[in-house]
Amino acid sequence: MIARRIAIATLTPFFLVPLPAAAQQAAPDGERLFRTRCASCHSTDPGQNRIGPHLAGVLGRDAGSIDGARYSQALKAADIVWDEATLDSYLADPRGRVPGTTMTVALRNDSERAAVIAYLRDLPAAK
Ligand code: HEC
Repeated sequence: MIARRIAIATLTPFFLVPLPAAAQQAAPDGERLFRTRCASCHSTDPGQNRIGPHLAGVLGRDAGSIDGARYSQALKAADIVWDEATLDSYLADPRGRVPGTTMTVALRNDSERAAVIAYLRDLPAAK
């Protein structure tokens, strides 16, 4: 009896551990997606604008508000504060969300968008 209980206690972790590990592998990697899909135009370094504005601290900021970045009139005039919901709709269909925006690339996959938004949200705050 005692031997069986010990056996169950020691074996249980081996059944449980592989599940979360597998789930993590399946989830898209936000940092990697950002590097491959966004970083050619966007830096996460405050003050470093490329074709698009830097995205450090983008959650919570007004659309079109970075000094020195090149924005369309459409985005500057858009009454948007970037949060998870507004980023989600803009990234899914930039021109549908802000007609006239000069950002034309979309990220259509829902879980990829969620991963990139979480990556941006968890960046160190802009200085
Ligand atoms: C080909 C270049 C390019 C790529 C790739 C690109 N963007 Fe952009 N992005 C832009 C430009 C240009 C703007 C400014 C749009 C405007 O002013 O209408 C912009 C604007 C933005 C804004 C608004 C920022 C602000 O200050 O209001 C966000 C957020 C954004 N992009 C996120 C992303 C994310 C996330 C990705 C990757 C999934 C991405 N972009 C990929 C060019 C790009």
